[in-house]
Amino acid sequence: MRIAVYPGSFDPITNGHLDIIKRASKLCDKLIVLVSNNISKKGMFTSSQKANLIIEAVKELSNVEVDCFEGLLVEYVKHNNINAIIRGLRAISDFEMEFQMALLNRKLYNDAETLFLMTSTEYSYLSSSMVKEVFYMEGSISKFVPKCVEIAMKQKIYKGEK
Ligand code: PNS
Repeated sequence: MRIAVYPGSFDPITNGHLDIIKRASKLCDKLIVLVSNNISKKGMFTSSQKANLIIEAVKELSNVEVDCFEGLLVEYVKHNNINAIIRGLRAISDFEMEFQMALLNRKLYNDAETLFLMTSTEYSYLSSSMVKEVFYMEGSISKFVPKCVEIAMKQKIYKGEK
């Protein structure tokens, strides 16, 4: 069984992430979308809220699971017999950081192999932070995120949480 993990902050999941998930799920027997901590980012959603939104967004993909993990990615990889870490690349500007992360992960755990998927061109401009900015400035985000995410973001504002 070939298992891949797709880690990220997913705050929130966007259609760009979904595109990577759909394509990566065809390359392995099981794909785990892993809600992980990026200590340099402050989130809009909690980990379990993010995971629930991903579960809803991927419900039609039978070999995709969703999990949350607060520790080092390589520890998750080691303990769950993961064969590959999937990361999406939108532009050359992503490459430097991603290259550094992939090398660091391999230094921490020699069997941690990272595979990069190029994003589809229609999503190359998209990021969770841009979605949040457009949303806070009252622009429409319906083209950028799954419907469940749009609803959840509106509910946060309605409840006065953000
Ligand atoms: O969506 P992001 O913010 O680009 O994802 C980055 C993420 C969460 C995958 C990365 O920060 C990560 O792997 N965090 C877990 C902690 C860890 O292992 N850090 C060392 C590698 S950078």
